[in-house]
Amino acid sequence: MNKQDIVRLSWDEFDEMRDPRPDNNAFDAVVERAISRRGFLGGVLAFGSAAAVMGTGVLSSTSSAKAQGATFNFEPIGIATDHEIHVPAGYGWKPLVRWGDPLFKDAEGAYSPETGVPVEMSDRVFGENTDGMETFVDGDRTILAINSEYVNPKINLPAEAEGMPRNADEVKLLKNMQGVTVLEIADSGDGYAVVLDSPYNRRITHETPMTMDGPAAGSDLVKTNADPEGLAPKGTMNNCGSGKTLWGTYLTCEENFNGYFGTTARRETTEGQVPDHEATEGEVRYGIGGEGRYAYEKFDERFDLSREPNEPNRHGWVTEINPLDPESTPVKHTALGRFKHENAEMVQAADGRVVVYMGDDERGEFIYRYVSNGTWAEGQPTDGLLSDGTLYAARFNDDMTGEWLALTPETTGMPIEEILVFSRMAGSKVGATTMDRPEWVAANPLRVEAYCALTNNKNRGVKANAGGDEQPVGGPNPRETNNFGQIVRWRPEGEDHGADTFTWDLYVMAGNPKAYNNVYAGSDNVNEGNMFNSPDGMAFSSDGMLWIQTDGDDSNEGEFEGQGNNQMLVGNPETGEIARFLTAPNGAEVTGLTWSADRKVAFVGIQHPGGNWPDGNGKPRSAVISVWREDGEAIG
Ligand code: FEO
Ligand code: CA
Ligand code: CA
Ligand code: CA
Repeated sequence: MNKQDIVRLSWDEFDEMRDPRPDNNAFDAVVERAISRRGFLGGVLAFGSAAAVMGTGVLSSTSSAKAQGATFNFEPIGIATDHEIHVPAGYGWKPLVRWGDPLFKDAEGAYSPETGVPVEMSDRVFGENTDGMETFVDGDRTILAINSEYVNPKINLPAEAEGMPRNADEVKLLKNMQGVTVLEIADSGDGYAVVLDSPYNRRITHETPMTMDGPAAGSDLVKTNADPEGLAPKGTMNNCGSGKTLWGTYLTCEENFNGYFGTTARRETTEGQVPDHEATEGEVRYGIGGEGRYAYEKFDERFDLSREPNEPNRHGWVTEINPLDPESTPVKHTALGRFKHENAEMVQAADGRVVVYMGDDERGEFIYRYVSNGTWAEGQPTDGLLSDGTLYAARFNDDMTGEWLALTPETTGMPIEEILVFSRMAGSKVGATTMDRPEWVAANPLRVEAYCALTNNKNRGVKANAGGDEQPVGGPNPRETNNFGQIVRWRPEGEDHGADTFTWDLYVMAGNPKAYNNVYAGSDNVNEGNMFNSPDGMAFSSDGMLWIQTDGDDSNEGEFEGQGNNQMLVGNPETGEIARFLTAPNGAEVTGLTWSADRKVAFVGIQHPGGNWPDGNGKPRSAVISVWREDGEAIG
């Protein structure tokens, strides 16, 4: 594969290309199940757990689903296939901050539609490919912390580079376009705008000094030549989803960190030189080896596995940042486990312990929960709350019950630092349930329950996961070759997030009722007017509505015909109704959602747009947009 093709791959496709998994199942991956939609919905016994899921009442509200919009205070919109943003009548939107926009006055004009951002200004502007974000308030000031998940080298580097950095400066440019941006916003009289030169404005990149805490900090697994104590990692990368602690700090979640590492070692083969790296079991499970996606290893030995084999172990963590203190040092919390962290949803157990729900976004990986040993209440110290506790992985039983399986030396036979650095392997040891790519978890503020978007999984029923765990059809992953995705929710026993058991159901199974008359048509609350694929970002508004963002196939062709561009929908948890609120420009996913303190403005992330959105000339620019109600009322 040539360079041009590699830079076009999604992270998921990049992993598949680098570490192809052998087929371990003979049946045809594209065979549809030979059952009708009616049969599926009605036949609890005949079709096992999937049908049981659909028989749970919550989702069988066909009539209310048909009367879509009845419980929403907006008129749902249709699909779009253009390069614009669409919102309901009575709502407005505009960009808040785009890739390359200045954070400081000296960076005004740094971005050029022809050449992007020069390296010397690359840490003075907003990063690329916006993702998770949260709002923080300091007195009457509003501060946003916003992830920049990854970088598109083709639009950042000169065309001659063909999407791969050719020198250390080009590597530096790519590094600086990712990570986290902290910025202050204020009402400019014409909506919110970035406050240039605010003391809060800050970039946190692949190079920012950090610390680590928890049982794996300082262990041999995280020591490197540059940091022999294993306590001072540098940087955060592939910052995907987000979270906010109860005490008002930001959690940024490191997702596809594996792709940043490669080896410069080579060996001769009959086809010429190839990367020479014999992957350990842990590296295989995490997809580490070969060549890095951005060729960092050629210009920075920190990313070269032949020199720093432990450096990847210092990434893949939930990292805490205090956005209100620009001098603070971010902390990587090893107690929360290392995997492809999507987001981190913090809630509290009935007894005051801190609970964090987390998804691991890869086909056939797990959903996790962390529970602190200590308790917290407003005004109390937070020491140890994210470093002293227990990590669990979820098992979902076919009978719609489930349990949190503790990952401890006793249950796994692994030392604690290995459990945390190789959490996936610990999850496999206890028999956690392989899931259809767990993305964001969102907890309902009005009820003790949590939702996780299972975005899609073409390997369900087809291949094992990277650790060899089978991915059988069943439970909350009821469809073979699942290209549409679903949202699972769980209600903890005794309405206590600290309980070790729960019951679950599917809030929605996405699908296409126009293209299919079987399980791929989706659940009863999906219809031709609201259909979508690949739920990913999720957040609850204060009124208890679930906002769902998609990152899927926006070709509007084949089995996705009628679904249009990626979108943001609103779901009513009680009735199951779902209505489309926003459509993204073609090529983009919608990811990241937070609100102004008065809830009158929603901030929505538009990642990897196509065309030349939003400027209408030059390069496409990922951006956070403001969305508001024209009558000035709150929108969530
Ligand atoms: Fe960065 Fe799984 O999305
Ligand atoms: Ca995502
Ligand atoms: Ca996704
Ligand atoms: Ca993404």
